[in-house]
Amino acid sequence: MDNPAFEVHEEGSKNDLSMGKINTISRMEKKKQWSLLSIFLVCLLACVVTTAIGVLILSLVYINNSQSHLNVQFAAGVWPLRTTVDPKVQKAVDPKFQFLNHLPKSKVFEYSGGAIQWARYRNNVKDYLNDEEEAFGTSLNSQKSHMTLGTLRIKSKGLRAPHWHFNANEHGYLVQGTAWIGVVDDGGEIVTTYNVTAGQVIFFPQNTLHWIKNVGNEDCFFLLFFSTHDELQTLDVDDVFFSTPEDIASRSLKPEGGIDFIRKFQKQKEDQAVNLPSNLAELVMNASYVQSPDSLVWRYFYDLKGSKEYQFPGGVIQMAQHWRNGSELSNNEKIFSEFLNQHQNTLALSTLRIYNNGLRQPHFHFNANEMGYVLSGCGKVGIINTESTIEFNINIGDVVFFPIGTQHYIKNTCDEDLLFILAFSTGDQLQTLDMDDYLQATADHILAQLFFKKQSEFKKIPKFKEDQAINLP
Ligand SMILES: *[C@@H]1O[C@H](CO)[C@@H](O)[C@H](O)[C@H]1NC(C)=O
Ligand SMILES: *[C@@H]1O[C@H](CO)[C@@H](O)[C@H](O)[C@H]1NC(C)=O
Ligand SMILES: *[C@@H]1O[C@H](CO)[C@@H](O)[C@H](O)[C@H]1NC(C)=O
Repeated sequence: MDNPAFEVHEEGSKNDLSMGKINTISRMEKKKQWSLLSIFLVCLLACVVTTAIGVLILSLVYINNSQSHLNVQFAAGVWPLRTTVDPKVQKAVDPKFQFLNHLPKSKVFEYSGGAIQWARYRNNVKDYLNDEEEAFGTSLNSQKSHMTLGTLRIKSKGLRAPHWHFNANEHGYLVQGTAWIGVVDDGGEIVTTYNVTAGQVIFFPQNTLHWIKNVGNEDCFFLLFFSTHDELQTLDVDDVFFSTPEDIASRSLKPEGGIDFIRKFQKQKEDQAVNLPSNLAELVMNASYVQSPDSLVWRYFYDLKGSKEYQFPGGVIQMAQHWRNGSELSNNEKIFSEFLNQHQNTLALSTLRIYNNGLRQPHFHFNANEMGYVLSGCGKVGIINTESTIEFNINIGDVVFFPIGTQHYIKNTCDEDLLFILAFSTGDQLQTLDMDDYLQATADHILAQLFFKKQSEFKKIPKFKEDQAINLP
């Protein structure tokens, strides 16, 4: 009886008993009223339906007549690409984002020991932060660029966990800081360790295990290029350890205490990709940071900052690549050049400095896609495609992408130098053609015929002794 639902039901049945007759009469009256009302409603409904069908027929006829008119409008430039309205067109992303990524605005993956950001292709479009990022990632993938870029910041004493990449070589440039890096090669007998400093380049071949420990007082800041346009596949040593069955781990490592020793390891809740335990001083007492002999070190490292400078009137270029003719290289550089050449699908790295007012003139590469990161300064980039010319501004942290064969130019628009780190998707020497070179190389009379100009006019384009790849006005 305490049940409220039961009480309500009982009250209702009491009423029915006491007022049974009255209820029956009023119900009969209501029935009559309802039947009149329902006839009226049915008529009304019929009316509405007929009107609706009429309007529908009329509007269909109208749309058929005006369809051609609408198509003309779209073609005239309202929607220049497609005439059908699909969701992708409605997004209307500026086409420059096929070539430009504002990396500082991208998602920051934070860890206790540092942070990672990406300019990359994603399998799942939902993993892009916005349409601009999607346009860039899609362009990297559809051009088969062999390019992914990440920035890695490691705090002082922080550690990028030992790991390897299934599907890419890794090439990097240390912008700032000092890091003790270890690389474990096939078989594990050869471990190469080295203190890498700012301005140097790293190369970790696909599937070599490596770790990066910040041994300086300031943050380390790495630019990392991976030779894949798919999602990078990585395995960290702690993750693979905890995924290994305890008995298998115990039998493989044969530790004192056996499987109980293995069971005492606790997986941390947070991802330890870049780690920095708060009790580090308790854990590590006797760290030593030894360095391997040159013959090993310079396979994985290259002193780009200290390498030969290619001087131009408007700037400087330095290269970390495989050289077919290594006669001008130092011994250490030769080791690197030859080691690169022993691997498939490697990248060439480069720094490009453009002075105030300087212009890296229009040019293109025969044998490589190019990805660049703006380290300092600001400028304007132009891309000359088969369809159009796209110009956009670039600032610190921006990432640019120039597909193979696409002519591009870069102009410094700041007082300070514009400095780039560039990666090229070739294991060979980079092959490039500049605008002045190909116009000089084309016969006068061919140009005269092409441009409707007298042959003698083309004598006005001077030839310079010095290479004008980066020029000044
Ligand atoms: C640290 O090094 C000292 C001296 O070489 C040694 O006596 C000590 O046992 C080491 N401690 C650890 C934890 O390895
Ligand atoms: C590497 O750097 C650490 C930290 O500055 C230093 O203790 C160590 O001696 C260096 N190793 C070499 C071989 O220079
Ligand atoms: C390599 O370059 C040097 C100097 O630039 C040159 O003297 C030499 O002939 C070149 N060797 C080959 C095989 O091309």
